[in-house]
Amino acid sequence: MAYRSWMRSQGFTPEVFDGRPVIGIATTWSELAPCNVHLHRVAESVKRGVWQAGGFPLEFPAMALGETLLRPTSMLYRNLLAMEAEELIRANPLDGVVLLSGCDKTTPGLLMAAASTDLPAIMVTGGPKLSGKYQGTDVGSGTAVWRWEEDILAGRMTPAECAFAESCMSRSDGHCNTMGTASTMASMAEALGMQLPYSASWPAVDSRRYETAQRAGQVIVDLIESDLTPSKIMTRAAFENAIRVNAAIGGSTNAVIHLLAMAGRLGVPLTLDDFDALAADVPTLVNLQPSGQYLMEDFCYAGGLPAVMRELGGLLHRDAITVTGQTVAENVRDAPCWNRDVIRALDAPLQPAGNGTAVLRGNLAPGGAVVKQSAASPHLLKHRGRALVFDSPESYFAVVADPDLDADEDTVLVVRYCGPKGYPGMPEVSNVPLPAKLLQRGVRDIVRICDGRMSGTAYGTVVLHVAPEAAAGGPLALVRTGDWITLDVPSRTLTLEVPEDELARRRAEWTAPPEHATRGWTRLYTDHVLQADTGADLDFLVGASGHQVPRDSH
Ligand code: FES
Repeated sequence: MAYRSWMRSQGFTPEVFDGRPVIGIATTWSELAPCNVHLHRVAESVKRGVWQAGGFPLEFPAMALGETLLRPTSMLYRNLLAMEAEELIRANPLDGVVLLSGCDKTTPGLLMAAASTDLPAIMVTGGPKLSGKYQGTDVGSGTAVWRWEEDILAGRMTPAECAFAESCMSRSDGHCNTMGTASTMASMAEALGMQLPYSASWPAVDSRRYETAQRAGQVIVDLIESDLTPSKIMTRAAFENAIRVNAAIGGSTNAVIHLLAMAGRLGVPLTLDDFDALAADVPTLVNLQPSGQYLMEDFCYAGGLPAVMRELGGLLHRDAITVTGQTVAENVRDAPCWNRDVIRALDAPLQPAGNGTAVLRGNLAPGGAVVKQSAASPHLLKHRGRALVFDSPESYFAVVADPDLDADEDTVLVVRYCGPKGYPGMPEVSNVPLPAKLLQRGVRDIVRICDGRMSGTAYGTVVLHVAPEAAAGGPLALVRTGDWITLDVPSRTLTLEVPEDELARRRAEWTAPPEHATRGWTRLYTDHVLQADTGADLDFLVGASGHQVPRDSH
């Protein structure tokens, strides 16, 4: 009686307590997370579907992570969202959960929670913004920012033009409309089988987004009946599908970290090297910014992810089961492609196979590093240059406009102490802008190496996720300005040309940076975060605990 009575304060009729499935709707809505600000409306559509299917929907908030406002980086809080959502799903009397996400970290955070509880779950991402329109051209969220930032530094854009362009870029609800991290992770959720076909690409304001949300509300009730839980869907085969789809869509490098973390929750064996090996025979098919030309709205009209997955054919595990209760093959069998310039055919791809995210190793990155080849400059993929080293992005920004900076087009710019521990959360700072003097000379790219991450909307020849990071004593901490570094992407190597005895001498002189925090979440995070090559989860969150509370206190 007590449980029912308190719930009836919301005005529910008695029949809702007749034993029907209780569906939690975990929403990451917040006005501080503008990409997710419409999720309360999406939740209403989900509720319609749940009621329709005979369930009892209850919406609850999970930590909203807005990419643009959170400092030092939203990634510091991905694991906190995952932990919070996991505990909320487990502690409340739920039979299934619908996960509402959008902005970059909200999708992997909620999927990690679903993986660790293994309660029937379905994801509904919020969808991308409509295409930005500025001066007669389409502009992509994020990708345009990087270009405009350089234009302002080089004097090609005025502050007034910039202020006007801002709203032209963001003219509707939704997450970034490029194939950045949000669109990538929405696509990963669909490729893994955790959200309904076409969910990743309907624009946020499209009626079909809301129709799909209503359908998801019906489907979660079916998932409970069939006991089709996340661990039965997110298998090794599903992860292999996701990695191959990521290569085909020219997806974000952040997918590497998030998929590794999710696999760790499920006990699915997955390594950094799997990303290179599995992507080796997958060409880039999707012609979207930042690797290509178009935006997510175009992708939707061209046929969305089902058209890509159909085109990949035998490159995917077509018998992998999905939330529809059907296999990948059944889901995409009739998926049409309406625009072959946006979604290319396998035999006429945007970029040839083997051009996706490459995994590098060498004495500078014994744990591995990644480079997004499709966003890099081909002439820099084999490069030897002298290091110009900075111990923080801020120390680089202090001199970026210095006309006397000792840098040229051959320089290898090293920005370090930006990894999970070093700059807690591993921010997206690796694609620092070029020195102003090079931009003014028309140079548009140089090799950059960093233990941080890069926005999925960014481009450039940027070596990322160097592991172990500098703050953990990785060899990146030992590089000095003037050292020669060789990047050889075709050979998958990253080499610091300094003799081992000299490196040993430098290592003996190295001291770890001071702790960033003595208490609170940042302290817990820096004490327990794992390196990028295993997904930067917290060591005690790896694995699953199921959905039963450890001890019922009532
Ligand atoms: Fe939210 Fe890009 S800032 S998705």
